[in-house]
Amino acid sequence: IPASSVVDAASRAALALPRNCTFAESDWRALATHWYPVAFASEVMDKPFAACLLDERVVVYRISDGSVRAAKDICFHRGAPMSMGSVEGDEIICAYHGLRYNDAGQCVCIPAHPGGAISPRLRLHMLGAQEAYGLIWVQLVEDATAKLPVLDEWNDPDYIQVLPDAVDIAAASGRQIEGFLDVAHFSFIHKESFGEEDNAFVPEYNVTTKPDGFIADYISTVSNYAHGYKHLGPPGFLWHRRFETYLPFAAKLTVFFPNGQLHILNLASPVSARKTRLFVPICRNFDKDSPLQATLDFNHQVFAEDQEIVEQQYPEDLPLDLHAEAHFPADRSSLAYRKGLAAMGLGRSFTA
Ligand code: FES
Ligand code: CO
Repeated sequence: IPASSVVDAASRAALALPRNCTFAESDWRALATHWYPVAFASEVMDKPFAACLLDERVVVYRISDGSVRAAKDICFHRGAPMSMGSVEGDEIICAYHGLRYNDAGQCVCIPAHPGGAISPRLRLHMLGAQEAYGLIWVQLVEDATAKLPVLDEWNDPDYIQVLPDAVDIAAASGRQIEGFLDVAHFSFIHKESFGEEDNAFVPEYNVTTKPDGFIADYISTVSNYAHGYKHLGPPGFLWHRRFETYLPFAAKLTVFFPNGQLHILNLASPVSARKTRLFVPICRNFDKDSPLQATLDFNHQVFAEDQEIVEQQYPEDLPLDLHAEAHFPADRSSLAYRKGLAAMGLGRSFTA
């Protein structure tokens, strides 16, 4: 076969939207340059792992030095998913005809033609991949300015680190994040967990913008302890919750407890326009000997309470036209969030 007949499928695929893309093209392109978690580090060991991000099928795998690689989950020979294959040393091997690709995605072996020339254009479409906070992160379209959300406490020995199971949510990532930032729903949606039915008042709070989002400092008397927890906090204690967003779909909540700090990193990974895989690494520097299971159970309960409402909101896509829904002063954070997404160029073509 003349080398010129090898179609440079990886290059063409770089420009193409995913098959059956559920996003408007301009939204997909604005989102695809950011980093999102797609798997737990512990799920990507000796076998390739299949994930889906922004409707793109992705394979993630680990080579011999322990570092991770990601590629579009397709072998351009006959379209088999690379996630059906295997990894040996630094090479990923397609399950169908055994083509082997090196750690840069270049095909280095065609078993049907041992020793034959291999076109440099026969390669996988490689993607950005990195490991942080116990998770594997992928970037579909390269952009060196895109950064991960910051969770320094994950590597701080003064903290314990907890990684609850991922939650699959049938809702847009923007709706999920906005719910995480919402401070007016505690008394209603979270009345079984930590909310206080008779304490719905939302005091005024400030929102400060930063280049990749904003910070909201919310101070109220609503405790962050689970109902029935051994302490209730000192009487009259003012609970400070700091929300820090990392556009488009990440937000960190720091709760200042009487005896330390709790950090919850809410990472909404956009599987498609209306499907979200939620990862939530948690760190705290107090109550370090209390059982982790209690933290996992409490976290699970709170996010399940949110999921129930977030999956039923409509329109399903977060409206970025500020006149599309009504707002009151407690919604300062969500308005800042919607403005931040609109400034990224998103939402021009969201449809209900
Ligand atoms: Fe992958 Fe043929 S489809 S080697
Ligand atoms: Co909530």
